[in-house]
Formats: sequence, structure tokens, C-alpha cells
Amino acid sequence: MNKALLSVLAVSALAGTAFAESPGMAAYAAVPPKAEQCPACHGENGQSQTENIPSLGAQQPAYALIQLYMFREKLRSSDIMNGIAKDLTDDDLHSLSDFIGTLPKPNPPADLGDPVRMEAAKALVDKEHCNSCHSADFSGRDNIPRIADQREDYLLQTLRDYKSNKRAGYDATMAEVLQPITDQQIVELAYYLSRYRP
Ligand code: HEC
Ligand code: HEC
Repeated sequence: MNKALLSVLAVSALAGTAFAESPGMAAYAAVPPKAEQCPACHGENGQSQTENIPSLGAQQPAYALIQLYMFREKLRSSDIMNGIAKDLTDDDLHSLSDFIGTLPKPNPPADLGDPVRMEAAKALVDKEHCNSCHSADFSGRDNIPRIADQREDYLLQTLRDYKSNKRAGYDATMAEVLQPITDQQIVELAYYLSRYRP
């Protein structure tokens, strides 16, 4: 991690302590002024209705903070998000990522999924220990994202991008995790995670 990122994170750790001291405060976070444009793409209430645009509901604030920082510094490339993050201050990154964490988690689709595919993908997830990092219910923790009930098209695209190194993480974890995983397996992982029910 570079120094600037570490300093952004250090402030975040302090902010985290303040929230911890006043339970429930995060749930009443006001909508930060710069968040007004976000739902047009990311959906109302944290659930995206748009192809290839991720849901942000209940995303881990520390993860969202790092990603917004990476978009701003063009360490993660996306023409849209690089443009949106360009003029955000460190304070904006904090208020936006804390706000994201207060949005309700996305709902699984009505489609339960083909039981045979779901079962096979679950075995693959267990074998690859996806849940050891992303938590048993895929809700994530700290800088590790929630992936439960994320959009299938976005999951597919972003897993492919990690594998081909088109998407740079803040470290190389996901590129390494995906090294032995085939494209067909990526398709199955996206199928499973987007329909996950705890
Ligand atoms: C014009 C559409 C658009 C708008 C407006 C927009 N986003 Fe995005 N956002 C995207 C797209 C597309 C991606 C996926 C980029 C990629 O594939 O790397 C994304 C990705 C993200 C991610 C990464 C999520 C993840 O799971 O890794 C975060 C965080 C985010 N946006 C926050 C915001 C915030 C906060 C705002 C408002 C200030 C916002 N976005 C406004 C289109 C948009
Ligand atoms: C060693 C810990 C670890 C393991 C094991 C792991 N991940 Fe990850 N994962 C991470 C971290 C850390 C990130 C965030 C990296 C970044 O900055 O982009 C991440 C990011 C992701 C994302 C991006 C989510 C988003 O909103 O953009 C997906 C999808 C994902 N992982 C799926 C998986 C799957 C599927 C597996 C199992 C095959 C897996 N992960 C195994 C640590 C892990």
C-alpha cells in the first residue's frame, strides 16, 4: 500500500472508533451532499438495476473507501468512476463510504437457481476458501467486500478482470486466488454468489 492510502485508512480507523462509541449512529447518517448523483446508477436503497453496475448496499465502508480512493487516483480504471471520483476530497471519500455502509443489503433475486449448479458452485467456494476471507455469509469484513447478492453480470466481469489483471486490487490477493480457476468456474461462481441465500 502507498503512503497516501495508509493515511486515508488511519483517519478511517479513528472514525470507526467514534462510531463504535455511539452505537446506531451510522444508521442515521445523513446523505452526504455529493451522494446525490450515486443512486442514478447504483440504484435506490443500494440495489443496482443496471447492467454491470454494482449494488452498493451494506458494502463494507473500509472496502468502499479504498475503492473510491483507487478510482480517484486512477489505480482502479473505470472511465465513469475515475471521472466521478476525480474531485472528491478525503473527507468526501469518508462520508460517502460511511454512507454506503448504511444502505440496506441487496436482496437475492426471486430465481432460486438450478439446484445442481448451486450445489456444485458451493463445493467450489468451499474448496477455494472464498468464505474464509469474505465471511461465512459473504457479507465481507473491513477491506474485504460483501459479495453476497451482488449482480451476476458485475461479478462475472470483475472476476474476469482480476484474473486478466485488468482490475488491480489494492493488493494481488484476488489475481492469485483466481489463478487456478477456469473461466467456466468463474461463470459458476458468479451464478452462485448472485443468488446466495444465508
Ligand atoms: C454514471 C454511472 C455511475 C454513477 C453516477 C456512479 N457510479 Fe459508482 N460505479 C459505476 C460503475 C460502472 C462501476 C463499476 C466500475 C468497474 O467495473 O470497475 C462503479 C463502481 C463503484 C464502486 C465500487 C464497488 C465495488 O463493489 O467494487 C463504488 C464504491 C462506487 N461506484 C461508488 C459510487 C459513488 C459513491 C457514487 C456517487 C458519488 C457513484 N459511484 C456514482 C457507475 C456509476
Ligand atoms: C485471502 C483472502 C481472499 C480470498 C480467499 C478470496 N477473496 Fe475475494 N477479495 C479479497 C479482497 C481483499 C478483495 C478486495 C481486493 C481489491 O482491492 O480489489 C476481494 C474482492 C473480491 C471481489 C470483488 C467484489 C466487488 O464488489 O468488486 C469478488 C467478486 C471476490 N473477491 C470474489 C471471491 C471469490 C469468488 C473467491 C473464491 C474463489 C474469493 N473472492 C476469495 C480477498 C479474498
